[in-house]
Amino acid sequence: MNIYLTPALTISIWLTSFALQAAPPVSTGHGGAVATISEPASQAALQILDKGGNAIDAAIAAAATLGVTEPFSCGIGGGGFMLIYSARDQQVISIDHRETAPASVTPRLFLEDNHALPWPDAVPNGIAVGVPGTVLGWQTALERYGTLSLAQLLEPAIQVATQGFNINENFHRINQINEAKFAKFESASQLYLTNGKAHQIGSHFSNPDLANTYQLLADRGARAFYEGELADDIVAAVNTPPVKKGITVLAGDMSHTDLKNYEVRLRQPIHSTYRGYDVYGMPAPSSGGIAIAQALNMLETFDLANMERAQVEHLYLQASNLAFADRNAYVADPEYTDIPVQGLLSKEYAKARAQLMTGSALQQSSAGDPFRYQQDPSWPLRPSHPLGQESLHTTHLAVSDREGNVVAYTFTIEDWGGSGIVVPGRGFLLNNELTDFDFSSPHPNVAEAFKRPRSSMSPTIVLKDQQPAFTIGSPGGSTIITTVLQTMVNHIDLGMSFSEAVNAPRMSQRNGDTTLVEKRSDFTDGEQAKALAANGHTFVETEQIGAANGIIFNQDGTVTAVSESKRHGVGTALVQQQ
Ligand code: GLY
Repeated sequence: MNIYLTPALTISIWLTSFALQAAPPVSTGHGGAVATISEPASQAALQILDKGGNAIDAAIAAAATLGVTEPFSCGIGGGGFMLIYSARDQQVISIDHRETAPASVTPRLFLEDNHALPWPDAVPNGIAVGVPGTVLGWQTALERYGTLSLAQLLEPAIQVATQGFNINENFHRINQINEAKFAKFESASQLYLTNGKAHQIGSHFSNPDLANTYQLLADRGARAFYEGELADDIVAAVNTPPVKKGITVLAGDMSHTDLKNYEVRLRQPIHSTYRGYDVYGMPAPSSGGIAIAQALNMLETFDLANMERAQVEHLYLQASNLAFADRNAYVADPEYTDIPVQGLLSKEYAKARAQLMTGSALQQSSAGDPFRYQQDPSWPLRPSHPLGQESLHTTHLAVSDREGNVVAYTFTIEDWGGSGIVVPGRGFLLNNELTDFDFSSPHPNVAEAFKRPRSSMSPTIVLKDQQPAFTIGSPGGSTIITTVLQTMVNHIDLGMSFSEAVNAPRMSQRNGDTTLVEKRSDFTDGEQAKALAANGHTFVETEQIGAANGIIFNQDGTVTAVSESKRHGVGTALVQQQ
């Protein structure tokens, strides 16, 4: 007998049931799979898969729900990069829906009296907000690869936003970090503060304004974000930020035309090979795909399988240092900058750069000369800049389905809490993505009208013998790149299972004199750290790096979804059972 449940009833049942069951961070099975950092988001994806939706549908449902449960990391006020393996086309494609600079932007955007603003001062302002791309990104993915309607996919998120949830430790922690920023704005204070303080752990939180916004998109389609009353409210919030009495911030200059003309870009992914795998990553304006491919090319010149772990990790840090030197110097929006992609990805160039890796720990190494490895050498601007400040935010999700489609999706509002500006009455935060530009020129990544700021987001899909082998991605600003790279090295070279690879202690070397490491007794007190220190590495500790989500396609035909078991709360990995 089939028992028919209305969508609302089905959702209420799982809203109740997820409160009772522990969220598994690792699941294996034969069906479609999902891994996200939020249980309601993973449940939303599973529900869509169970309804017959494909991985693209499920990824959008999960993303919309993450906008409710992880509002400080992502949402419709921002942008992102979606990588899709289409089983039908046997092809990986990327959907760039990164925020763009409004037409009014010039390279002087973040200069005050000819001096670059300190990064934290630049964030909570209208000038930091890029034209959001997320909603059109979802729509584009759906039109080309999805099977359900946007309205169907927004249903779970609308339910979660309406019914609400109890605030967990992680939500509270990030809310608390943002107290001062939210306190500047009337609408953010109303939504995210109680008497000027972050909502308490265990208190009930719902977001009816966001539910209504999603309902508007469900009723009228994605264009309702870019034209009409919602667009009016976005423009007003950017140009006249809803500050509290006595507070001043820098107003932006975004027009209705900026919103109306926003365009998604379909781009060829970065393709490289590593020890028999085909690695697909995000192209520019993300620097992730190029930097990961470049570091892997350097590592491939060493016989890592026959080395001690500490030596492998030493070389991983060296490769990352060198890849970041090039990333910082050369990568920006490809529509504005002549990036030497072919040279950067050349195996010959990697061989030459790898010769710098054999000694003790590199300090801040200089960019190399990839132009010699281009078939069409050009001589563009070649500044070498150290890494600017970037925050450790964003979210990543992974979904696969029974047909063999795979989605790796990273999306963001940039800093935790974005610009801090909640669009009044609409329930979502606007991004501060324009602070991903370099603040002073000359630099390929300086702000310009309509340009997309350089990103580090690295959704990655790896094939073996033309079939999906695994997918991985993470939040974490520029540590995204090292998290994805290290997880791949852990799995491919150190032979860790996929979940061990995700859960291992992380180190992030980004062309600096020091390496960021997680403060974990299984790393910092161990032989591994001592061996690396003996090789000249110096460490700076932080609580956590990244929050990865991935899926591995096992040789026995099963699939294993993997999320974090400790970082950022606990993630939820689910595999269809029916
Ligand atoms: N704002 C984070 C990134 O794009 O890498």
